[in-house]
Amino acid sequence: MLERQKTLLPQSASAVLEVNGLTVRFGALVAVNDVSFVAQRGHITSVIGPNGAGKSTLFNLISGAIRPSAGSVVFNGVDITGKSPTALMHAGLSRSFQITNLFFELSVYENLRLASQVLEPAGRAILSIGRSTLALERVDELIAQFRLADKAHELAGYLSHGEQRRLEIAVCLSSRPKLLLLDEPTQGMSHADTEETGDMIKSLAGDVSILLVEHDVGLVMKLSDHVIVMNQGAKLAEGLPAEVRANPAVQAAYFGQGKHHA
Ligand SMILES: Nc1ncnc2c1ncn2[C@@H]1O[C@H](COP(=O)(O)OP(=O)(O)O)[C@@H](O)[C@H]1O
Ligand SMILES: [Mg+2]
Repeated sequence: MLERQKTLLPQSASAVLEVNGLTVRFGALVAVNDVSFVAQRGHITSVIGPNGAGKSTLFNLISGAIRPSAGSVVFNGVDITGKSPTALMHAGLSRSFQITNLFFELSVYENLRLASQVLEPAGRAILSIGRSTLALERVDELIAQFRLADKAHELAGYLSHGEQRRLEIAVCLSSRPKLLLLDEPTQGMSHADTEETGDMIKSLAGDVSILLVEHDVGLVMKLSDHVIVMNQGAKLAEGLPAEVRANPAVQAAYFGQGKHHA
């Protein structure tokens, strides 16, 4: 027993997220069914599986949007099960949505500034723009990092689809999260935009740990340190990208379908 604890310690010391037996029921449907996994700090951990497998619901459970029927979520060693999305954002967890979450009628700059305002200490959050120094610094960093300088004063609604999805990732990073949950960030993107966004996600990992739902299986295999496969609410398999790809159960349930969807 002691030996076992010893070997487990280094792993849990580098875990940013531990999901244990997570389950949620919607009436008769068990949308997420006893799912457990560990995401390592600085890594890209991807969740794939057919449409309806429960991936977005899993993200909703981890990010506090919905409460589980059973199970727990441990973030940085702290049990965060059932905490509100706002509390989790302040704890360092940030998520993007499968559906765009930008203010289309505001500029790129204003979208980033609103999101960065959480960096200001409580009570200063409603300071005038010019005095929100922490927020403004963060906006400048993100505009440089995401090469948005020439688009900064365009309305978000006028950006291309690819630019909007990248702006969403920048918005999610405003709060300087430790863990970033990205739900299908390349959905609807052209091949070139998908490649570029993939490279960008790869370059973010390390500073921030990433949990990714992605429908482009090729991209997942290229980007991920660890892949979790879901099917009908349950975890079907997990491992290194090559291990998952070679797993007969995964091939039968997923790759074999001819529908390469996450
Ligand atoms: N709020 C909800 N109420 C009822 N059923 C839901 C709800 N959210 C998701 N579902 C169902 O749960 C299943 C998993 O959905 P989802 O997590 O969106 O799958 P994925 O993201 O893998 O495509 C689907 O059958 C979906 O219809
Ligand atoms: Mg989904």
